[in-house]
Amino acid sequence: MPLPYSDIVMEHFRHPRNVGRIENADAHATEGSPACGDMVSVYLKVDDKTHKIEDVKFESYGCASNIATGSIITELAKGKSLEEAKQITWQQASDALGGLPPLKTHCSVLAVDGLRAAIQNYEERHGLVKEKEPTTVDVVTRRLKHVMNPMVGLDLVRTKLVKGIEISDGTVRVVIDLPADHQFAPNIREDVKEKIEPLWDVQKVEVEFAE
Ligand code: FES
Repeated sequence: MPLPYSDIVMEHFRHPRNVGRIENADAHATEGSPACGDMVSVYLKVDDKTHKIEDVKFESYGCASNIATGSIITELAKGKSLEEAKQITWQQASDALGGLPPLKTHCSVLAVDGLRAAIQNYEERHGLVKEKEPTTVDVVTRRLKHVMNPMVGLDLVRTKLVKGIEISDGTVRVVIDLPADHQFAPNIREDVKEKIEPLWDVQKVEVEFAE
């Protein structure tokens, strides 16, 4: 049975606004949904004096609800300050879309998480993080829960691919339980670095593959 999507959802799904990537973006993040394994990437251009979002684009690897929510939240975020954009909720996005089926809540949560992660990435890259939590194994583990294992569409931690995490003098070493010549090793290495490197007290990230 087709899902009861509103006309606004269908319009944003068929003609999504702000789709694509921004070359030389000031920040970007990719988030995965633990509920369905789909992913969304969000790119930002930010005025470095006013901290207003000048441009925002997204790429969705999710469903119609995710695409529609990505479209509406990028419209809502454009022109807002980072602080204002952080306050955008999935409920607001859902209301602006005329409502989403309850079964699809996680799809709009994913889009909002993507926007928030991109804002966080900007703050980390520009020294704007207010609460500087020291990087611990727990912090790294939390971040790795947002790196997808491309073989199954679930995160590295839940699929038990993280064999070890060591932190010493600003260097984070992550050991992944896959052979170094695995077809997804380069992607996983890049995604792990992207998630860990912006942490304020991390100077170097080493990703090793050991099966
Ligand atoms: Fe995965 Fe909607 S089902 S984003």
